[in-house]
Amino acid sequence: MTETATATSALAKELIAHTGRFTDKSFDWNAFPSNAGFDELARAQMRYIGAGGSPKVGDTSTLKPDNFTLSLIYKEPGKYAACHSHEIEESFLIIDGVLTVGWEKDGEVVEVKLGPKDMVLNAREIGHGFRNDGVTPVLMSISVDVGKPLPPVYHYHPKEHPSELARRFGAAPGKTLPFDRNGAHPLQQLMARYVVRHSELPTIWEKAGFTRKVYVGPGGLEHDTCRKEMLGIPSGVGVKPFSRDVEDAYLVLEGSLTVGWEENGETVEVELGPLDLVKTPAGRKHWFRNNSAGAATVWTVIGSAKPDGVVYEAA
Ligand SMILES: [Fe+2]
Repeated sequence: MTETATATSALAKELIAHTGRFTDKSFDWNAFPSNAGFDELARAQMRYIGAGGSPKVGDTSTLKPDNFTLSLIYKEPGKYAACHSHEIEESFLIIDGVLTVGWEKDGEVVEVKLGPKDMVLNAREIGHGFRNDGVTPVLMSISVDVGKPLPPVYHYHPKEHPSELARRFGAAPGKTLPFDRNGAHPLQQLMARYVVRHSELPTIWEKAGFTRKVYVGPGGLEHDTCRKEMLGIPSGVGVKPFSRDVEDAYLVLEGSLTVGWEENGETVEVELGPLDLVKTPAGRKHWFRNNSAGAATVWTVIGSAKPDGVVYEAA
């Protein structure tokens, strides 16, 4: 028998403990100590899985990461993030607003504007920053792998560089190039391999009756850590229980989605609304179904680059 996740069984409690509710969580304006004292750098972070780029790893309201972290970042118009690099890979998925992302090398910068549902995967060791040149706040989801969580290395922080230069991610006047997939500059060519536009990705219709757009993984950007996909799930569509050998996470962007778990014949489920998340551990049988009248759009991160052989079957 299916019970709702308000029940008190161990499985139900575990599902609740793996659910991050947008309304229960809060944005942290002090997640990044290097921004302290620089209003132009202000940004807020909401942590769902792990700490991401923040050193706040002891946050008990956050789910423990296995292979990836997931957080939201909120950035108001006019604010920016100083150019820095990591030894880990980092993806930005835009949820609301338009974000300008710059990559820097030897004083030259390529800038790309990303809109809702566009993504950039910031390559390891590449200097990158971002800025909100728009008129509405930007909300985005950031995921990093948890390999070696070293602090970011700043290249053009306003602590050490003029504010105008830091705001341009280190480009002197005239040294900023636009993003161009056919551009001749090596940095344009490099970035072209890491920018994903929602409108350019093929829409894959699964036999089970929902769509997938593969951002990172076979058919999208080929990479060596996690797969990232956007699911479109029509009203009434669901899949049978399946499991993976790594964890996965569902973050609802639009609509609502019911996620269920099964163990030893017991099933429990939880309904997610916009910006709610469930992380399902490796090996746990789980499924999803859209019980609502409207379609659901769901961002999913899967903790491995390897194909897992999951075949979705309509429930
Ligand atoms: Fe970064």
